[in-house]
Amino acid sequence: MVKAGIGLAGLGFMARVHSRALNGIPEAKIVAAWSKFPEEHVKFDEFSKKLGFEIETYYTNIEKMLEDPGVDAVICAIPSRFAEPIANEIIRAGKPALIECPPSDTPEGIDRMEKFAKERGVKLMPGHCYRFAPCFKKSKELVDKDEIGAPLFVHFREFVPADSLARQWAPGSWIWDKDKGGPIPTMTVFCMDMARWLLKSEPVSLYATVKWQELPQLGTLGYTVSNVIKFENDVTWVNEFSSSFAPSVGSSMKMEIFGENGNAVMVDGPERVILHTEKKGVKREWYFDITRPERWGHKPQDEHFIRSVVLGHEEPIVKLQDAKKALKMSLAILESSKTNRVIQFD
Ligand SMILES: NC(=O)c1ccc[n+]([C@@H]2O[C@H](COP(=O)([O-])OP(=O)(O)OC[C@H]3O[C@@H](n4cnc5c(N)ncnc54)[C@H](O)[C@@H]3O)[C@@H](O)[C@H]2O)c1
Repeated sequence: MVKAGIGLAGLGFMARVHSRALNGIPEAKIVAAWSKFPEEHVKFDEFSKKLGFEIETYYTNIEKMLEDPGVDAVICAIPSRFAEPIANEIIRAGKPALIECPPSDTPEGIDRMEKFAKERGVKLMPGHCYRFAPCFKKSKELVDKDEIGAPLFVHFREFVPADSLARQWAPGSWIWDKDKGGPIPTMTVFCMDMARWLLKSEPVSLYATVKWQELPQLGTLGYTVSNVIKFENDVTWVNEFSSSFAPSVGSSMKMEIFGENGNAVMVDGPERVILHTEKKGVKREWYFDITRPERWGHKPQDEHFIRSVVLGHEEPIVKLQDAKKALKMSLAILESSKTNRVIQFD
């Protein structure tokens, strides 16, 4: 079997998530990795050996990695506000890439990236993993099959314990910069993309409140976001995102989609989807026995990336313009909470 040689750009948290995913994909092999920081090479080498593979070459110069003939495609996992120059190098080298989301910290940055990629004929796919997560795919399938009639109202809640985020991103990390929105763009953008995809509709307006919490015991920042989004198809979508509570509360993701025929789709964690029907007491359930790279969609997403963008067997189902729209929704959370205004989308 011909394997696509993958180069990793960035060796932090998401590079590990993608490595777990790619390690189980027969068509792909991670052959090279780049980080400016040699100490990250050492740490990543320990991690990859534990996972059962070794990276052939580590680079501190991105251009050198992109000249490596073994590198057919790149996974770029660099924080949004630093990603554009790296993406530009990848485009200049003509390598197809998955760019983690948000691909830039501004919508204009995503437009520039898309324009440059088009000019150079390079395919880029943004990493919007929730579209590939079994629980959300099943929910969309039930909505598309008209099991609940037209959706009326959606409630989505995603809580992550503060200590778990502190393990993911150490104090001092780019993500704890409150002036740049802290973790809010990263922790909300995947749901925003999922909402547009699931409803097949665009947002009209968004209102949000944000409560920040200094967490000196962890050296990080807690957040609690509540927001209401009105969609063009008249659906009201309410979100709650938080990382401001004790570890014993545990991780929790729940989604409830209520439809006009009285039925509802409920997602109770990434492993379980329930369809409540109008007949009293009748419900159907689906369980997904899934391991880490699958549960939030990363492995099926990376499989799709290899099949579509790298091998060209199909069109990617998610484009940079989707990433731009999702980013605008996440930025609207910050703007609405600062100004206490409803944000209208064009
Ligand atoms: N899809 C998901 O589920 C998901 C989850 C978390 C984060 N993300 C996204 O992944 C991206 C990366 O996040 P992460 O969690 O891996 O971050 P991280 O801090 O763990 O790692 C970032 C990497 O980028 C490098 N880097 C940082 N600043 C740089 C700069 N100025 N120039 C060059 N390299 C630089 C670091 O050295 C490190 O290798 C972000 O866009 C984030 O929003 C996606």
